[in-house]
Amino acid sequence: VPTNIDIKKEIIRLKEEKDAIIMAHFYQKNEIQDIADFVGDSLALAQEAAKTDAKIIVLAGVHFMGETAKILSPDKLVLVPDLNAGCSLADSCPPDAFKSFVDKHPGHTVLTYVNTTAKIKALSDIVVTSTNAKNIVDSLPKDEKIIFGPDRNLGNYLNSISGRDMVLWDGACHVHEKFSVEKIVELKKEHPNALVLAHPECKKPLLLLADYVGSTAALLKYSINSEANEFIVATESGIIHQMQKESPDKAFIPAPPNDSTCACNDCEYMKLNSLEKLYNALKYEWPAIDVDEEIRIEAVKPINRMLDISK
Ligand code: 13P
Ligand code: SF4
Repeated sequence: VPTNIDIKKEIIRLKEEKDAIIMAHFYQKNEIQDIADFVGDSLALAQEAAKTDAKIIVLAGVHFMGETAKILSPDKLVLVPDLNAGCSLADSCPPDAFKSFVDKHPGHTVLTYVNTTAKIKALSDIVVTSTNAKNIVDSLPKDEKIIFGPDRNLGNYLNSISGRDMVLWDGACHVHEKFSVEKIVELKKEHPNALVLAHPECKKPLLLLADYVGSTAALLKYSINSEANEFIVATESGIIHQMQKESPDKAFIPAPPNDSTCACNDCEYMKLNSLEKLYNALKYEWPAIDVDEEIRIEAVKPINRMLDISK
């Protein structure tokens, strides 16, 4: 990237010139959220990707988000600023092993969280996100046998709130599993009026302690509508940017991780994207997401079922 340019202005100029839309997940760096045309959770990003008229989608998020956009809009060029932006949860579900798991449970509906590769989606009946998971589970007949993957924490949580007994894949997100219940309890003593907001990818003891559990969009909405003035936020720290923007007078404390020496509240994959990489992606129209057409045809079906139920 040339040093003599105003990178933000150039990104906006290139975006307009090329008819591109910049979409960012809530976990992106603040400056990326601020330059994006659209900021949202996994469900909103998929919905927006399905309906945008732009020629190019720049998905500032992780690989599976770009893949979901490409599966929904195969004729568009979908760029992710850094293709190395993976996801530990998606990685915890390799396609061959998941296929054997599905084969071992004949007669089960295969429900998968959107944090998966296209190959896993192609093996699924319905995709869910943390925003619509409960509604989708509730929409299925009570006696339906269900496999849920890959997140064991979200799966356990869904079983507990919906009275189901879904068979769970044993995967997890390394960011959400690192928050320390003990340290949050200590923090609550210092901030007795603070409410604990937690993403359902967190472990069960934390979810039991939380005042509110929800997707990034749901946590944001709750923080806006709540009468409370202080919140301990147990999810990736990027969401705090929007919370603080929406409620400048409220205080948001990132939940402490077990290891205080690491930047564990950050998802290092999400944080791989930068304004420089975003600029290069727009300028060189690279790196692009590609999905094998046979896999795409199978993968789009469970995503469309999700979008239909979530309308
Ligand atoms: P949501 O934004 O859909 O709640 O997802 C969180 C997440 O971990 C995305 O990677
Ligand atoms: Fe994946 Fe966890 Fe990062 Fe979300 S926060 S992208 S689930 S590794």
